[in-house]
Amino acid sequence: MFAAGPAVLSILVAVTQARQTRAIIAPSLLSADFAQLTTDLRRCEDGGADWLHVDVMDGCFVPNLTFGAKVMETVHRVTKLPLDVHMMVVQPEKYFDDFAKAGAATLTIHAEAAPHLQRQLARIRELGCKAGVALNPGTPLSTVEDVLDDLDLLLVMTVNPGFGGQQFIPHSLDKIARARAMLDAAKSGAVLEVDGGINRKTIASARQAGADAFVAGNAVFTAADVATEIAALRQLTMARA
Ligand code: DX5
Ligand code: ZN
Repeated sequence: MFAAGPAVLSILVAVTQARQTRAIIAPSLLSADFAQLTTDLRRCEDGGADWLHVDVMDGCFVPNLTFGAKVMETVHRVTKLPLDVHMMVVQPEKYFDDFAKAGAATLTIHAEAAPHLQRQLARIRELGCKAGVALNPGTPLSTVEDVLDDLDLLLVMTVNPGFGGQQFIPHSLDKIARARAMLDAAKSGAVLEVDGGINRKTIASARQAGADAFVAGNAVFTAADVATEIAALRQLTMARA
């Protein structure tokens, strides 16, 4: 019988440990009730959310408008949750300084809107934020292959961005698995995040495909109880394949 040597065993242990890291649950502010924002944010905190996902849309990169630095700064004042800022905007660098000042923990820019990706990621880190890149469903993973060293987070979009409440695109699972393999092969410590249509039906397979962080808008904020929903989503990330 094959007897694993110490080197093989330590690789197996490392792989197993990597898969066992606790999932990050990031409710999306987009689906919160702005008339009772502090209550909704408190519910997320008390319910065990890890990050708060902040969707910035400019009506140009995506056909929708949301919020900017002023709202971000206000949200930062009333929650302890790290702000995971998803910038669905053209010329994202115009907002880096303001968003960093407003309290963003992570700034994620879309590769489709960032022709100078390496320089833009380096600038985000200079400002003291984590640097992320988001990829639309139609954008290949090879777009980020040459900036893996500059990356703290890779966001694989599982819907076309612009709106909450859309359906998870099933063949995203294959892309998540390939993204996982790419990050692991490069020994990258970047967080692999998924966003769009994440709910009780989709989260387990996204986790099994290798995602670390899960954005959930509608699933969390249309639930009868935010804490129960976050706990249910987390539980599903712990399910075995
Ligand atoms: C979509 C946004 C998402 C959105 C997710 O363009 O990037 O973050 O809020 O919402 P759900 O979870 O409802 O699909
Ligand atoms: Zn988002």
